Amino acid sequence: CNFLVERSRGEIIDTLVEGLERLEYRGYDSTGIAIDGDELDSTMIFRQIGKVAALKEEIKKQNPNRDVTFVSHCGIAHTRWATHGEPKQVNCHPQRSDPLNSFVIVHNGIITNFRELRTLLVNKGFKFESDTDTECIAKLFKHLYDTNLQNGNELDFHELTKLVLLELEGSYGLLCKSIHYPNEVIATRKGSPLLIGVKSEKKLKVDFVDVEFPDDNNLGKPETPLGSATDSTVDGITVNGKKHPRSYGVDEAQSSNLLPIAANEFNLRHSQSRAFLSEDGTPNPVEFFLSSDAASVIKHTKKVLFLEDDDIAHIYDGELHIHRSRREVGASMTRSIQTLEMELAQIMKGPYKHFMQKEIYEQPESTLNTMRGRIDFENNTLMLGGLKAWLPAIRRARRLIMIACGTSYHSCLATRAIFEELSEIPVSVELASDFLDRKSPVFRDDICVFVSQSGETADTMLALNYCLERGALTVGIVNSVGSSLSRATHCGVHINAGPEIGVASTKAYTSQYIALVMFALSLSDDRLSKLERRKDIIQGLKLIPGQIKQVLQLEKKIKKLCENELKDQKSLLLLGRGYQFASALEGALKIKEISYMHSEGVLAGELKHGVLALVDENLPIIAFGTRDSLFPKVVSSIEQVTARKGHPIVICNENDEVWAKKAESIHLVTLEVPQTVDCLQGLLNIIPLQLMSYWLAVNKGIDVDFPRNLAKSVTVE
Ligand code: G6P
Repeated sequence: CNFLVERSRGEIIDTLVEGLERLEYRGYDSTGIAIDGDELDSTMIFRQIGKVAALKEEIKKQNPNRDVTFVSHCGIAHTRWATHGEPKQVNCHPQRSDPLNSFVIVHNGIITNFRELRTLLVNKGFKFESDTDTECIAKLFKHLYDTNLQNGNELDFHELTKLVLLELEGSYGLLCKSIHYPNEVIATRKGSPLLIGVKSEKKLKVDFVDVEFPDDNNLGKPETPLGSATDSTVDGITVNGKKHPRSYGVDEAQSSNLLPIAANEFNLRHSQSRAFLSEDGTPNPVEFFLSSDAASVIKHTKKVLFLEDDDIAHIYDGELHIHRSRREVGASMTRSIQTLEMELAQIMKGPYKHFMQKEIYEQPESTLNTMRGRIDFENNTLMLGGLKAWLPAIRRARRLIMIACGTSYHSCLATRAIFEELSEIPVSVELASDFLDRKSPVFRDDICVFVSQSGETADTMLALNYCLERGALTVGIVNSVGSSLSRATHCGVHINAGPEIGVASTKAYTSQYIALVMFALSLSDDRLSKLERRKDIIQGLKLIPGQIKQVLQLEKKIKKLCENELKDQKSLLLLGRGYQFASALEGALKIKEISYMHSEGVLAGELKHGVLALVDENLPIIAFGTRDSLFPKVVSSIEQVTARKGHPIVICNENDEVWAKKAESIHLVTLEVPQTVDCLQGLLNIIPLQLMSYWLAVNKGIDVDFPRNLAKSVTVE
């Protein structure tokens, strides 16, 4: 979305398509864009199933004139992961209200009452083209626009949006563009992330935007957006907020009524809330980049503003107005413009073939970043700034509940024991969906810890809201800065692993693990009895980045295993107990996710209660046999496997005589990793499994970063 910045249609298409490419990791069964057409007040839509590359081809085929220029333009784009309606062209977004493309919508989330809405709209004469829930939003926009117009009510775009949102149930992060509101765009969210990047040529006058709360009496009456500056224009674009013709280029813009804006024409409140003026008050060519993910915006700007649930952002004439769709007491009145610390290089593959491979290899650095500035290894102390003020309250808790999904859930399991040991508070670990299904009781004095890489997972967010409603103290352990989860929790820790793009989580796991260990350490820093244990763990953490580097050298051996022993296998068991049960589950998940091989993480103690029936000389078994207090029991489990002619691959510590001896008499492959403190060993043990899943998938010709049916961030329930 650009204002007073001349762009050709070709540039606009490329910007949208490139933005989609950066988002592809979040879902990738179909894509589409909508841009201004050749006729005034017309919209072109290009859509295609498959990846963004297919959309590029489709656009090329349709061959739109790339040379037309715009000084004010709004285009929208979407990459889809099907929830309603199979991936086919009519189901791709943007979805439209009618063949004239009067209202076009891109939407993340699910509209749960779409069937009722559809029936209602069909009765009103609308003809549906797709199976999507999104199409009913576009049609609802048109229906409400038409009926209001018939009643002589010419609504502003945001007022119309408010009426539409009143009818929607479910979750959404959506953008709407309309031929009735040329060069304007609406962005609104509820339960689905949305941010606005602001790129301005000059330094902005203010770094926040005021929020306009609903005035029920005012609904339907367009307000005057710029106070005393209502009749002014900036470089040829009228800024009075009334309907204005789309500008097709500088020539046409110059023919309009030019009046320079003087800084003093904006009263303080309005200049703060609405105009992206430069610091010196002069007109400021500005571009807005709206996205569900900072990754697609970072190339253009690092200045972003995160929308909150129920915000309606209305952009026109280089201005951003934020309205609220519902009235509430005590809600924040401003949205500040923040500077992202993400670098473009972080979301590029660099010399690696896949993001997943890059992220596996980043772990010596990403784990260090998690600890950077937080641990003083000289004095064995640590400080987590985001938790400091809350620690006394957390220490008083009677129980702590960790809640997460997928890999994040495994990081909770991996650290639960050390949490209980150091904090002496009982800890339960919950899968967010199951926790909600059970409507588990939560009390005001509970501490609920939410772990999420993206900070946007719908199940985790719903569980968070559930706990907030019940008055619990909530803590977030999150990678994505500015994500919904990090904003909604009372306090927390950013794991600082850097953007993770690969669908299979790797570096986020090791960083979550470390962040949780640091959290547990901070809970015990007032206990003398834990002093020695704490020291050992802190010194252990210091060595982890270097030790991960060492484990990564196993890649050649693992690659060979994948090419030989594990090739063509249909199934795989992973055995672990104690601290290593989480490694077994996470290893199995990695293998399932990207190599599509059935794999199961088994608690070694449970082997004899059923799983042993599967063991024979053919079934590959990976066992975590590193040293800790449960080592003798793990050895005995592995003996049960070898007694049934199984040939386990054992992940063990370097030069461990027990395994060296066994290897003399039975066929046993070992993958040796350095030894660390028991509660940190899982950080090293998981690396071989990450590499194994990667090579199993690559050998099968699977596109590792885009495993079938999965998305990086699951923002639907
Ligand atoms: C999806 C991803 C998993 C991830 C899980 C939780 O299923 O494919 O890799 O572990 O969501 O995501 P979160 O962002 O909450 O950690």
